[in-house]
Parts: sequence; C-alpha cells; structure tokens
Amino acid sequence: MQSKGIATLTWGEGKSIELPIYGGALGPDVIDIRQLGKTGMFTYDPGFLATASCQSRITFIDGDIGLLYYRGYPIEQLAEHCDFMEVCYLLLNGELPSAAQRQQFVTKVQTHTMVHDQLLSFFKGFRRDAHPMAVMVGVVGALSAFYHDSLDINNAEHRATSANRLIAKVPTIAAMCYRYNMGLPFMYPQNHMSYAENFLYMMFATPCEPYKPSPVIVRAFDRILTLHADHEQNASTSTVRLAGSSGANPFACISAGIAALWGPAHGGANEAVLKQLAEIGDVSQVPAFIARVKDKNDSVRLMGFGHRVYKNMDPRAEVMRRTCHEVLNELGLHDDPLFKLAIELERIALSDSYFIEKKLYPNVDFYSGIVLRALGIPTSMFTAIFAVGRTVGWVSQWTEMIADPEYKIGRPRQLYQGQVKRDVLPIGKRG
Ligand code: SDX
Repeated sequence: MQSKGIATLTWGEGKSIELPIYGGALGPDVIDIRQLGKTGMFTYDPGFLATASCQSRITFIDGDIGLLYYRGYPIEQLAEHCDFMEVCYLLLNGELPSAAQRQQFVTKVQTHTMVHDQLLSFFKGFRRDAHPMAVMVGVVGALSAFYHDSLDINNAEHRATSANRLIAKVPTIAAMCYRYNMGLPFMYPQNHMSYAENFLYMMFATPCEPYKPSPVIVRAFDRILTLHADHEQNASTSTVRLAGSSGANPFACISAGIAALWGPAHGGANEAVLKQLAEIGDVSQVPAFIARVKDKNDSVRLMGFGHRVYKNMDPRAEVMRRTCHEVLNELGLHDDPLFKLAIELERIALSDSYFIEKKLYPNVDFYSGIVLRALGIPTSMFTAIFAVGRTVGWVSQWTEMIADPEYKIGRPRQLYQGQVKRDVLPIGKRG
C-alpha cells in the first residue's frame, strides 16, 4: 500500500488519533482505522457504504465513470476478444493465457465436469418445483461431502483443484436443476464442446436426437458468463470471503455465495426484471409504472436499475444490450415485445429527473433476463445462470484471501441499542 499521509481524528476534550492514509493502484484512497479500537470506539457503517474490506488485485470498478476492469483489462475488450475460459484463467492467475496455457486449463476443467453419481440421488429429495437456487445452495454445499481429497485450504494445490472442480461442476449442477424441474433426464457433460456450448447442451439436448446450437447463440452465452464473472466486493463475494475467513471449505463458501446472490436486490434482480416487464405489459403502461416508482409511498423499485457503486451506466449493461440485439436477430425475435418494452422503459427512465438526480442507470441485470428468456431459459433459472458465471469470481477472490498473509477471521462489531443490565425475576414474579 502506498502511504498518502495521515488523517487526524479529534473528539471530546482534546482527544485525537492519527490514522494512516493509503493509496492503491487505482481508485479512492483509504483511511486505515485498524488502530481505532484503542480509542474504545468503533466506526459505524451499515451496509459498508464507505468501507474497504480488503486489498485485492482482481477487479476494479469506477462507479462514477462506469469502468469495470478484470485484472486491468476493460470488460468491453474482454467480452469482445476473449472467451469465458480465457477470462477464468485471467481472474484466477492474473494474466491472460497463451493458447497452450488456455488449452491446458480447459483440459483441467473438463476432467471435473461430471458430478459424483450419488449426487444424482440428492435431486430426488427435492420437489420438482423447487426453485433452482434452493437446489444449487444444497447440492453445491454438499460437494464437500464428496471431495475430501482437496479440502486443505492452506495447500495451494488443493485450492487450485477445488477451484477447477467448482468452475467445472456448478454448470453441470445448474443444468441438472433445470432438467429435474422439467422432468427431463440429466444430460452428461460433453468434453469435446466449449464451456458455453456444453452448458446449453446439458440444458436443452435430449438423448433422442443431435443438438447443435448456432455459433451466434453459443458466443452470446459465453459472453454473458464473462459479464457476470466478477465484480469486486459485492454482497455475494463478501459472503464468500467472510465464510472463507473462518477456514470453511471452498464448497461451503461458494454455497453461501449462491445463497446471498439469490436475493432480488442482488443476483435475483434479473428474474425480478422479467416479472416486472410482464406486470407492466405494454409501453402504454410505462408512465403509470414510473409514477409508482417515484411515489415515496410505493415501495416498488425499477428492477435492473440502480447500483451501489455505479452512478453511471454499468458497462456490462451496454454489452448486454448489444448481445440482446444479436440474439433476438439471430432467433428472428427482433420484434420481441418485452425487448421493445425494456428499450422504451430505459429511454423514459433515463430522461426522467428522478432517475437522473439519483444517478440510477441500467445495471447488468436489466437486459440479461431478456437475452436468457430468448435463449429459452426459464425465469427461475436466471439467477442460477448468474451463479454459473460468478463462480470463477468467487473462487478467485476466495483464493486471493486465503493466500493473503494479512487475512484473519472477519468479525464486525456493533452499536448496541438493547436493554442495559437487569436481573432475572423468577417466573412467578414476572408481570
Ligand atoms: C447486482 O454490488 C454489485 O456489484 C452487485 C452486482 C454484481 O455484479 O455483483 O452488480 C449485481 O446486484 C446489480 C444490482 C441488481 N439489483 C437491482 O437491479 C434491484 C434494484 N436496484 C436497487 O434495489 C438498488 O439500486 C440497489 C440495491 C442495487 C443499490 O441500492 P443502494 O446503493 O443501497 O441505494 P439505496 O437503496 O440507498 O437507494 C438510493 C436512492 C433511494 O432513494 P431515497 O431513499 O434516497 O429517496 O435511490 C433509490 C432509493 O429509493 N433507488 C431506486 C432504485 N435503486 C435505488 N429507486 C427506484 N428504482 C431503483 N432501482
């Protein structure tokens, strides 16, 4: 960390403490408050709006300008010039792979794409109509019951094996969730296919006839995974880090991340966007809906809009919008009414003072649901797809934390507002 001077905190009768300021490679400086405990006071920052929880070299976001870099590469360039396997290698290792390094990594991942056959019986314990994310949380967490050979988190080899197993198996499990829900037989992974094509195969192929998605669709889906791969210290990544800080095994940590991602304020927003578009129904209803969003007495929010960090356009949303056009054109759905409604909703919102003043722009979730729906993926699977893309980000951040000599168990404190000390009365004497 680069020293950027001192911040002096003064309070009470001439009390003060000097706190070092540090700068990073990019982005805001930080005030190191680790010594604040000596004052007998804590900082107070619900939702961590002004808190840097760690040092990281993986992803950089500039929310004011709308920049997103994975290991220094702008997301637009990665989405354009790389496939998801290259992006996985980059996030895990810090550099883009050579062709040979990429092939070696792909082969490693492909040796782990199947799941233990006994896991298949896990699915029989769920209702057919269980939400895919409920099944994902359970089955991914259960992976630690099968892979005892790679759970020593202090062994770099084990960390790499677990990372490759998770990147390889989460798509297999996600596709199994869909197949089980539909009452279809599981389709085994096809290691001669690319990561994206294999996922679409496991989702949509049948044992009865050949399945070959168009290269445009495969490339679009591959790009969607890249757009979701990592995003700094968001809620689910922070959950993975906090779970990992206790020494929990990586499968349990990723299961915790999947649970956090499920929320509609986070990864569940893409599913909520589609539901909201369906409720609005028609462009003529957009003004009335926008009025509801602006009404303080109405809790409805425009899903897919707004972001804790981006106060400008989410760069992923622009790539996703272009991908949406590509997929709808490829499938002859360019007149898709939902897409047209989304375009009109975005246009009206971006010209409305409420959204402009609050700096609310489309985020990655605004268009992703429309693309996924066009690919024939049911709404209930949208967040599971987000988890497929984000798994590499979670395991990269987890690996970085475990390898960081500074890391220790996460243990925030609180501002206590409860009862002060009082004595227990025997039950017969209570009012
Ligand atoms: C993801 O963190 C990440 O990086 C996440 C993510 C990733 O890749 O991991 O980018 C993925 O989760 C994207 C976000 C998906 N969620 C949604 O689209 C749900 C809708 N968005 C909101 O719920 C909201 O914008 C959040 C949760 C995303 C961010 O909320 P903040 O930063 O806590 O902001 P806030 O709730 O304090 O809102 C500030 C103001 C409020 O108005 P006031 O009380 O000040 O008058 O803006 C308003 C909010 O009411 N506001 C919205 C709004 N989002 C915020 N009003 C209408 N519609 C919205 N979508």
